Amino acid sequence: MTAVHILNGPNLNLLGSREPAIYGSATLEDIRAALAERCANLGVELVFKQTNFEGDLVTWIQEAGAGGVPVILNAGALTHSSIALYDAIKGSQAEVIEVHLSNVHARESFRHHSYISPVARGVIAGFGPLSYLLALEALFANTIRKT
Ligand code: DQA
Repeated sequence: MTAVHILNGPNLNLLGSREPAIYGSATLEDIRAALAERCANLGVELVFKQTNFEGDLVTWIQEAGAGGVPVILNAGALTHSSIALYDAIKGSQAEVIEVHLSNVHARESFRHHSYISPVARGVIAGFGPLSYLLALEALFANTIRKT
């Protein structure tokens, strides 16, 4: 069965209570549930994880790359700081779509640079939880139309 790994980085476990004016009121569990429903419709196996540790993301990206499983990645603040994530994506040849709930380009200047974007297939930012669903469509929409 086709699969997708949706990986979430630091502080995304706080969604729902974290800066709701920026990130909205949906919890990470709400987002997981919406993605699980869409994946079930698509016939895609969903692996959904969150960690506050950079090394976990490195390991999970390497595993997805080795398994040929596409990744939807919200690396949180590590987006803007992690050469290790850049190297993990490049080194494992993982197919990664970078997502953000907020429009990082409309925020502080330190959020304008991403170490993920140069090694990502594409970037979706600014649509709240819909960013994740749009990434899923980007990965699998063509497949659906063909079947
Ligand atoms: C974020 C944007 C990042 O700049 C921030 O550090 C996050 C969340 C987003 O989803 O909008 O933790 O990735």
